[in-house]
Amino acid sequence: MAEPPAIPWWRDAVVYQIYPRSFQDTNGDGVGDLAGVLRRLDYLSWLGVDALWLTPINESPDDDFGYDVSNYYDVHPALGDLGTVDRLIEAAGRCGIRIILDIVPNHTSDRHLWFVEARAARDSAQRNWYVWADPKPDGALPNNWRSAFGGPTWELDPSSCQYYLHQFLPSQPDLNWWNPEVGDEFDRILRFWFDRGVAGFRIDTANKVVKDALLRDNPPLRPTDPPMERRLGQRPVWSSNRPEVHEVWRRWRAVCREYDPERLLVGETVLDDLETVARYYGDDDELQLNFNFPFVFADFTAGALRDVVQRTEAAFGPGRWPVWTASNHDVSRFPTRWCRGDRRRIGMALLMLLTLRGTPFLYYGDELGMTDVPVPTDRLADPLSHRLPGLFRGRDPERTPMLWRSEPGAGFTVPSMEPWLPFGNSGLSVESQRNDPASTLRLCRDLIMLRRESSDLRAGDFGVLDAPDGVWAYRRGSSTVVALNFGDEEVAVPDVRGRVLIASNRERDGAEVPGVLRLGPAEGAVLLSDSAYSGCQNLYELR
Ligand code: NOJ
Ligand code: CA
Repeated sequence: MAEPPAIPWWRDAVVYQIYPRSFQDTNGDGVGDLAGVLRRLDYLSWLGVDALWLTPINESPDDDFGYDVSNYYDVHPALGDLGTVDRLIEAAGRCGIRIILDIVPNHTSDRHLWFVEARAARDSAQRNWYVWADPKPDGALPNNWRSAFGGPTWELDPSSCQYYLHQFLPSQPDLNWWNPEVGDEFDRILRFWFDRGVAGFRIDTANKVVKDALLRDNPPLRPTDPPMERRLGQRPVWSSNRPEVHEVWRRWRAVCREYDPERLLVGETVLDDLETVARYYGDDDELQLNFNFPFVFADFTAGALRDVVQRTEAAFGPGRWPVWTASNHDVSRFPTRWCRGDRRRIGMALLMLLTLRGTPFLYYGDELGMTDVPVPTDRLADPLSHRLPGLFRGRDPERTPMLWRSEPGAGFTVPSMEPWLPFGNSGLSVESQRNDPASTLRLCRDLIMLRRESSDLRAGDFGVLDAPDGVWAYRRGSSTVVALNFGDEEVAVPDVRGRVLIASNRERDGAEVPGVLRLGPAEGAVLLSDSAYSGCQNLYELR
């Protein structure tokens, strides 16, 4: 008999996102660093995560904290150096943890030597690495495109009287992916890091990298356009999701396939339409994983989450593997946004994240139920809070330092040092939760362990089960059931027979369920069911 196809490692994995500036400081400057990640490998190994995604570690002037790269082949000096990366990859590997880096192919810093060269003269060798355009004959901007960070996407370069394109900050000029030299350079960058043992990349703004070659005007919004599409105030049909972008990802995937195990690509695809997200998987020849922002932005209700997960299952089918994430460095943390700090709801959300069909990505601090931290105006660091004052809260509240201990410095930095962003509630620290069996941290860890042991949870198919209003119940594989009560009243879920494996109220772990599962307000449970479910209840098989 033919060998069954090997399951790629990332399907069984739980990935943990680290914002390195905020994880662990080792030299007392108030900024986290890569040596800090190394120092905390014991914790990460205890938590049970399989891979770390580090937001950009490259050299950068930090206009956008690493998303403005000035050298793709080296490390930001505040974070460490190449030697530290090598040691981290090696030491993490010994703990069974892989390292995923962030790559920014859409734009560079305006201080990158490529751009310095490009803007030096109209005929400079690297001019065409970026997107330049003349003003219209009447002096107007080359087109009507809007930047995701406010204002037009065009910045005038006074010395050459041409505009350059920037879909983010003016100091983040967009690269020109129509130029084959750019593609060749990024192949080299990929191989440079893969050769060092990096397991994969999270690709920044993966759907915007190729722009319309004719730079045509984007059409106006329609009343029916969904929320993420509306953000620019226009329909980004010529600046996003261009068909040619898929050629870039096919080419990158081919580079990933040069390595064993094959390297991983995870796309940041901030899109409402899940069919369009599904296209970034290609025919298993583009990105292996893509973030699911309709899930991130769904309301925390049974109906909204059930709907988005069912729509994902329907759009992806059995062949594409979803990603489930609820917090990241750009959005309010889920314990605040979804749960308003309610510990019961935070536990239920973790239980959901770790039991859906797909790869969960946790954001550092999710396991503690870390909430957003209000940042005083004089300490705001995110350029967006300065660029869009009053309009946007900025992204600092979700980027504050990890809480390791309940003491000055929080175990993050030396007690005398004020960290780059303020600390949150030290009552949530690792130290205060680690030995408490009822804590959010222990719940998260136990769910990760359960997932490791359960082939249903790792690989089983997904099917929605009947449940009363306000409850979302689903099965995984043939014998695992998850029920989540989003309501404020106790409910009885009929036709559930089996044993509770883990409940968000830990006192219920191990309880026998004789036929009716009672769930308290904001309570969730994973059960080993006595009833054998068959795949025919599976959503995509029903279609
Ligand atoms: C998405 C990143 O997650 C965000 O932090 C960054 O500002 C933009 N892309 C621009 O690179
Ligand atoms: Ca430091």
